[in-house]
Amino acid sequence: MVTTYKKEEVLNNSILPHGGTLINREIKEEFKKEKLLATKEMDKIIISAWTISDLELIAIGGFSPLTGFMGEKDYHQVVNNMRLSDGTLWSIPITLSVSNEEAELLEVGKEVALIGADEVVYGTLQLEEKYVPEKVFEAENVYGTSEQSHPGVKKLYNLGNVYLAGPITLLNRPNHGGFENFYKDPSETRKMFAELGWKTVVGFQTRNPVHRAHEYIQKSALEIVDGLLLNPLVGETKSDDISAEIRMESYEVILENYYPKNRTELVIYPAAMRYAGPREAILHALVRKNYGCTHFIVGRDHAGVGDFYGTYDAQEIFNQFTKEEIGIEILKFEHAFYCEKCGNMGTAKTCPHDKENHVHLSGTKVREMLRKGEKPPKEFSRPEVAEVLIKGMQQKK
Ligand code: ADX
Repeated sequence: MVTTYKKEEVLNNSILPHGGTLINREIKEEFKKEKLLATKEMDKIIISAWTISDLELIAIGGFSPLTGFMGEKDYHQVVNNMRLSDGTLWSIPITLSVSNEEAELLEVGKEVALIGADEVVYGTLQLEEKYVPEKVFEAENVYGTSEQSHPGVKKLYNLGNVYLAGPITLLNRPNHGGFENFYKDPSETRKMFAELGWKTVVGFQTRNPVHRAHEYIQKSALEIVDGLLLNPLVGETKSDDISAEIRMESYEVILENYYPKNRTELVIYPAAMRYAGPREAILHALVRKNYGCTHFIVGRDHAGVGDFYGTYDAQEIFNQFTKEEIGIEILKFEHAFYCEKCGNMGTAKTCPHDKENHVHLSGTKVREMLRKGEKPPKEFSRPEVAEVLIKGMQQKK
C-alpha cells in the first residue's frame, strides 16, 4: 500500500535523495477509506503538532531515508555517531515519545493510530519497539548542552519517557493554514525545478524575516546557481520568534520587490525548529537535498540560539564528513553586514573597514524596535519588509 517514488520520478533533477530513494509513506487514495475505518479498532495515542510535522516529513520523503520513527539502535547510533545503524549520515533523532502509562497500554507488533489534538487521524505506526531514551546524553550530544535554558533541551526533557518506534503511514496531511499555496512536497519541488530548467538550486533555511544579510548571501549564491528555493521553516518555533504568518507576508513582499521572479521560488518547510545548531544544520541540508536542492546555505550561527554555539560551528561540523555522503554542496558564508564606508553589504572577507562602520543589530533589538513601530535602518532591513513586520507585530499586541 505504501510506495516509494519511481526512480525516473525523482531523477528529474540531478540530485539523488539522501540514501538514494525518495520515501513515500502516504497512503494511496484508494486505500484510505478502508484504513481509516481500521484505525477505529486500533490503540490510539494523541500526538503533538511537533510529532505531526515529523510524521508528515517522513511520509512525504523530506526525511528520506527514514520510513518511520527511529528504533533504539538507530537512536543510539545517531546520538553517538551521527549515523543510522546502516552507516548513513543522520544527525538528529526523529522519535515519538509517550508517557510510561501510555506505553504500557500499547503492544509491540500492533498498529497504533496517531491522532492529533483536533481528533484528526494523521497516521498509523506499526509498533516495532518501545524503549527508554537517555535524555541527558541525547541533550549533550545533539544540542551540545544539558541546560534547560536551551529551548530544544527543555522540550526534550518535557517529553514522555518512552519512545515508540516503527514504520509509519500518513493518512491525512496536516493543514497548513494560509500557506497551502506555498506548500510543495519533495517530489513536487523536484518536478518544479525540472520544469523551470534549474539544474542547480540553492536551498535557504530561515526562521526569521529576510534581512539584508540573508538577501546578500542568497544573492551571492544566485550568482553561481540557477535558482533559489526560499524554504522558511513554518512549524513550531520558540515564542519570541516572529510568527510564520507575519514572516510569510514579509517574504512575499521582499521577493516581489527585490528578487528576479524567474529565479526564486518560495515553498514552506513544515518542520519544527529544534535550535540544535550544528547538528540541525546537517539535518536542514539533508532535507533540502531531498527536496531536490543541489546547494545549501549555512551562514553564521545556523539554527543557533543564545550563546550555545560558536559562530561557525554549524559550518565546521560538515568537515567531519565526505562530500559524497553529504551529497549536497554546502555554501558557507561568513557573518554579513552593511558597511557604511563601502556603501554596500560585505563580510570580513570583502570589507577592509573597522567594526564601527558596520551596521549591527541584534534580533532582540530589532524585535523591540518593530514592536514600538520603529523601522530598523534600511541598511538592515528593506523598508517594505519592516512595514509588514511592524503591522504584523502591532496587530498581535
Ligand atoms: S536559522 O535558525 O533558521 O538558521 P536565521 O533565519 O537567522 O536562523 O538564518 C538563516 C540562514 O542565514 C542561516 O544559514 C544563518 O546561518 C544565515 N545568517 C543569518 N544571519 C546572517 C548574517 N548576518 N550573516 C551571514 N549569515 C547569516
